[in-house]
Amino acid sequence: MVLILGIHKSHNSSVCLLKDGAIVASVQEEKFNRIKNSGIFPKASIDWVLRSENITPDQLDAVAVGGTIVLPANVDLTGSSVGNAGKGGIPIPTRIWRHVDYKHQNLRKVFYPLVMKKREQRGEAGRKEVREILNKTYGIPKEKVFFVDHHTCHAYTSYYGLRNNDQKNAIVLTLDGEGDYDCATVSKVDSGLLEKISTTPWYKSLGYIYSQTTIYLGMKALEHEYKVMGLAPYAKDYFKKTYEKVFKPTIDVNENTLEFTSTFPLNRFIEYLKETALGERFDNVAAGVQYLTEEVVQKWVKASMKKLDFGVLYVGGGVFMNVKMNLKLSELEEVEELHPFPSCGDESNPIGAAYYVYIHKFQKPAKSTKRVKQLYLGPSYSNEYAEELIKKIDLKRKYKVDFYKDIEGTIADILAKG
Ligand SMILES: [Fe+2]
Repeated sequence: MVLILGIHKSHNSSVCLLKDGAIVASVQEEKFNRIKNSGIFPKASIDWVLRSENITPDQLDAVAVGGTIVLPANVDLTGSSVGNAGKGGIPIPTRIWRHVDYKHQNLRKVFYPLVMKKREQRGEAGRKEVREILNKTYGIPKEKVFFVDHHTCHAYTSYYGLRNNDQKNAIVLTLDGEGDYDCATVSKVDSGLLEKISTTPWYKSLGYIYSQTTIYLGMKALEHEYKVMGLAPYAKDYFKKTYEKVFKPTIDVNENTLEFTSTFPLNRFIEYLKETALGERFDNVAAGVQYLTEEVVQKWVKASMKKLDFGVLYVGGGVFMNVKMNLKLSELEEVEELHPFPSCGDESNPIGAAYYVYIHKFQKPAKSTKRVKQLYLGPSYSNEYAEELIKKIDLKRKYKVDFYKDIEGTIADILAKG
C-alpha cells in the first residue's frame, strides 16, 4: 500500500490523502479554524485526515506539497499583500512601490532581479519551514517531503482527478493568477501521460486582470471574483465601450506558441485601471473584465485545439472557477468534452501533488490512479449532532429551525419561488 499526504499551504490551505492511487480524504483548514481561505499551516486538516483513515504519521510513504515556492508562515497572502484593504489598509511603502513599478517599467531590469531573489529566499525559507514542522510535529523525515510545481499540480488535479478514459488524447489547460512564476500552461495527454508544451510567465496573467479588477471594485481578491462575474450581466450594451477602451488593449494570445501576451506587466493592472477606468460605471467594468476573460480564453482554447487536434479538455486553476466562461467554452463547436475540476483553485492542488508523487516518485503506472468520484471528502455531521448543537447554542431562540429530508430540493424550491 502507498500512502501519500498532499498539502497546500498558502491562501486556502488544504490537505488530502492518496491511498493506492485514490483520494480518500480531503479538507480545507478554514473548516476547522473558521477563517475564510485560511493560509496557515494546515495542522488541523492533517490531524483530521490521518484520524479519519486511522493512519499514524509513520505509515506515510511521502508528503507531496503543492508548489515549489512555499511562503513562510509570516507571509500571509490572505492579508493586504495581494492588495486587499485589510485592517490597516495597504501599507504606504507598498502603494508607492506599486505606483513606481507601473510608471517606470524600464526600472524593472534593475529592481526585479532583487525582487525575484527575495522571492526565492522566501520560497526556500517556506520549504525549510514546512519540512521542519512535518519533522518536529509528526516525525516525518525530510527526504520524504516533495515539492511539486504549482501548475503541474493544477494539471494533475484536473486530469487524473477527472479522467474517465485513458485511451482518449486530451488537452490539459491551467490558468490562474500566479503560481511558481507561471500563470498558464498547455499540456497534451498522450497514452495517459502529460507533456507540457506551453507556459506563460506570471506577469502576463489574465488572472491578475480579474483579481485586480475585483479589488478596484472594492472587493476582496481571491474571494469575490464570483461577485464580479455575477455583477457583469447587469450592464447594458454600453459596457462594450469600456471593454474596447480599458480591457481589450491589455492582453492577447499568441496562437502559435499558445502563450498569453500583454502590453505591460499585469501584476500592476490596478494602477492601469486607476488611469483608464476612472469614471467608468462599476457594472460596465465588471462586464468588461468578464467579456475580456471569455473572449481571450476562447481564443486560447481554440488555438490549443487547432494546434493539437484534440477536442477533449481538462482544465484547472482559479480562472476556471469562472462558470460563465466555462459555459461559453463548453458551447464551442470544436469542444467535444470539457472537464473543469470542481473547486479548481489552489485548494485542490494537494490532490495533483499527491498524484504526481505517486506516478513519478513511486514509479506507479498513471492508469493505476483513480479519479475523484465525488467531493464530499471532508468531515460529515449527523442530524443527531446538528440537533444537539442547535440545543446547545439555543439557536431556536433567534431562528426558526426545521428539519427537511431533501434539504437541497427544498432550498431550490424556495429560491425558485423567489
Ligand atoms: Fe493556482
